[in-house]
Amino acid sequence: MLKIAVCVSGGGTNLQAIIDSIKSGRLENVEIVRVISNNPNAYALERARNEGIDAVCVSPKSFSTRDEFNSALLDSLNEAKPDLVVLAGFLVVIPKNVIEAYRGRIINIHPSLIPSFCGTGYYGLKVHEAALQRGVKITGATVHYVDEGTDTGPIIMQKAVEVKEGDTPEILQRRVMEQAEWIILPESIGLIAKETEKK
Ligand code: GRF
Repeated sequence: MLKIAVCVSGGGTNLQAIIDSIKSGRLENVEIVRVISNNPNAYALERARNEGIDAVCVSPKSFSTRDEFNSALLDSLNEAKPDLVVLAGFLVVIPKNVIEAYRGRIINIHPSLIPSFCGTGYYGLKVHEAALQRGVKITGATVHYVDEGTDTGPIIMQKAVEVKEGDTPEILQRRVMEQAEWIILPESIGLIAKETEKK
């Protein structure tokens, strides 16, 4: 069984895609042991609670220094004892202590075809605004391992999505979520679960 902790900040549609994949049986031998958000109002926490999944908020606002937050985030992960940490719309720069503790065991979903439209400042709608601004005809999503950089770790899976005439950032974001993110994130976790089973 691959135990995963999912880190979220917002609506949690990628978390929901993982939950639905497990419930449908498409994603086997995977258990979500904890959902962690930096945002107490993240609807993603609600989605977890609806499924009886341990959902906790570790907010930077609750700590007087960033180091204290970083330690609390690591403690919360360690408490859950995950095999894999999944960043699903998590808008926190992953601190060095977490990278070191979970090296090679943290993955992220980014809403573009890396190396396009990624790195510092490229998150959420900003990614799609940049893609439309550049005029690309194809965009998509990427699942990659997380290292000390921003969106720089080894790529696991990508899926292309067509940009259509008249797309707004919101329309394009939705299409990338539906046609790419919600498919390749569960699939990537399934790949890792299968590789872990073999060991
Ligand atoms: C999505 O745009 C996703 O690409 C990015 O975070 C945003 C929110 O995702 N990673 P979610 O609905 O909270 O999963």
